[in-house]
Amino acid sequence: MTKPIGIFDSGIGGLTVAREIITTLPNEDVIYFGDTARVPYGSKSKETITRFSKEIVEFLLEKGVKLIVVACNTASSNALSELKSVYKNIPFVGVINPGVKKALSVANRVIGIIGTKATIGSAIYSTALGDKYRVIQKACPLLVPIVEEGLVEKSFTEEIVEFYLYSLKRERVDTLILGCTHYPMLKSVIQNVMGSEVKLVDSAVEVARFVRILLNKKDIKNDSRTPKYNFYFSDITGNQNTLVERFLGRKVELSKITLD
Ligand code: DGL
Repeated sequence: MTKPIGIFDSGIGGLTVAREIITTLPNEDVIYFGDTARVPYGSKSKETITRFSKEIVEFLLEKGVKLIVVACNTASSNALSELKSVYKNIPFVGVINPGVKKALSVANRVIGIIGTKATIGSAIYSTALGDKYRVIQKACPLLVPIVEEGLVEKSFTEEIVEFYLYSLKRERVDTLILGCTHYPMLKSVIQNVMGSEVKLVDSAVEVARFVRILLNKKDIKNDSRTPKYNFYFSDITGNQNTLVERFLGRKVELSKITLD
């Protein structure tokens, strides 16, 4: 099937998911939409996140996508169930369940989750994880701007990560879900702070695996030898090209589009 995969996020963070999908499924066309004009979603209400997400889904449907990946933890936790019930004819893949599945398969005793305020506030991860393990959650709102400002390597970043992860370490978390698109960019700092024995669950990797399985199951795989990639953003500002390249691991052309 030659239709593209649609991927969306509140901004550039979902490119960590797009990157894994492009690597795992190199014959698929991809249309990415990042809502950079309205980011962050992490501090917004469920109603607003759902309204924005619906507008983006309409845009992707117009582009003729065959599947939509909600590559944003905040949108997956606050809007995905509504999207699934409104748009019944298109399969959706969110970032929550693949991460939960992986965590349940590797955890020993205590699972930690870190994410934006809206993701942690939705309690979606703890609900999906059930009660087999102890679950400790923590919202880490400063981590998104740190990544976007290119401050990952700074020494104060490790201190901030330590501050946020203190309670998770104290409770001896053995498996930690990186419940935000930006956190894979902080993986080595987080691993350092938590200790090498703690297993980090990178939702981006798990989502790409999940998408591959779904395409096979539904028999809607593409075998394009020269896949097409389109990257749309609702705003494009000064250093966005650099940021996109850092998240995606390659240079691409960016298109600006205003959603009506
Ligand atoms: N993409 C969001 C997430 O994964 C982080 C950025 C935001 O707050 O919009 O939760």
